[in-house]
Amino acid sequence: MGQESVGDAASVVNWCTRSDISPLRYPGGKRKLAPLIADLISKAGTRPALFIEPFAGGASVSISLLEADYVDMIALADADPLLASFWRTVFSPDAEALADMVYDARVSLKEWKRLKHSNFGSGLETAFKCIFLNRTSFSGSLNQGAGPIGGMSQSGQYKINCRFNQEKLAERILELSLLRHRVRFVRNETYLKTVRDVRRTALYRDSPQKLFWYLDPPFFAKADKLYRYHFGSQDHEELARATENLPGRWLLSYDDHSDARRLYGTHPGYALVNLQYSARIDEKRRLVAKEIVVSDIISDLRKAGTLQHGAEIIQIPRRRQNATVQIQAVDRNLAVG
Ligand SMILES: C[S@@+](CC[C@H](N)C(=O)[O-])C[C@H]1O[C@@H](n2cnc3c(N)ncnc32)[C@H](O)[C@@H]1O
Repeated sequence: MGQESVGDAASVVNWCTRSDISPLRYPGGKRKLAPLIADLISKAGTRPALFIEPFAGGASVSISLLEADYVDMIALADADPLLASFWRTVFSPDAEALADMVYDARVSLKEWKRLKHSNFGSGLETAFKCIFLNRTSFSGSLNQGAGPIGGMSQSGQYKINCRFNQEKLAERILELSLLRHRVRFVRNETYLKTVRDVRRTALYRDSPQKLFWYLDPPFFAKADKLYRYHFGSQDHEELARATENLPGRWLLSYDDHSDARRLYGTHPGYALVNLQYSARIDEKRRLVAKEIVVSDIISDLRKAGTLQHGAEIIQIPRRRQNATVQIQAVDRNLAVG
């Protein structure tokens, strides 16, 4: 396989290997894709003025790229009002109040039940509800059916507070809030509405190549268990059509599922990413996690002959190491082609 080295993604690797990049424990969080996206951005040759994540979830890719200074500004949107409230608050003057609430929280089953059954509208309390339930529920799921870590009896080895480090989370919220001036918008909208609205902006009219879309839709498999807002098969197909005419550059990621291969497998910007972690299936077998990515930049690089057509596996380094080793790891492993 031809290997093309990527020399400049080390700073993003530093960020994306931080497991606390996002204060949210988000199912299917994609921080490990950030170095690849940084690399593609560099290869495309235009620094994004606005990096838009319309399926924001835990927003770890946007935050990694912003903190590593690969993009000027980010914009986040999610159909789930809990998530939109959380991010809006983190990047608002209310961040300090949210950090105080997290720091002072009583992490108990009683509080979990109170928040689970509450409805606060869209402000600070909702942002708190989001992070509290996310950090204290199984798999970080905000779904109505998701129970508390440790179960209702709290008799398991892990209790409700085992993923809620109040001091660290409060600190991280304050740290992120300092980036407020580089967050163009946070909205509670569907991706289709966000695409439509961005198309009307002056930024798009003047320099469409300076917009970058990172699209990470709900999974094909089990999304109804993980997210409060998920996709039916029609929605996946509608998204595939939307990528044909997005206002700006883009990269889409999907869990490696036969339906995703069917929808995108023949796209010229299709590639498989090896996330380099594996889950045990049984005593003998391990499942190596792969992710499908599709991007107009991959497609352009192939057209220009910069990337090979046939070989498709992209390796992403996984461990946080010291800077020198990291650069070697990036040179050796983060290869496209
Ligand atoms: C796979 S998750 C995104 C994870 C995120 N990339 C991360 O790293 O944490 C998909 C997200 O899409 C949101 N979503 C579902 N349907 C949507 C729609 N029609 N428009 C916008 N967001 C939607 C879900 O609420 C969920 O947060």
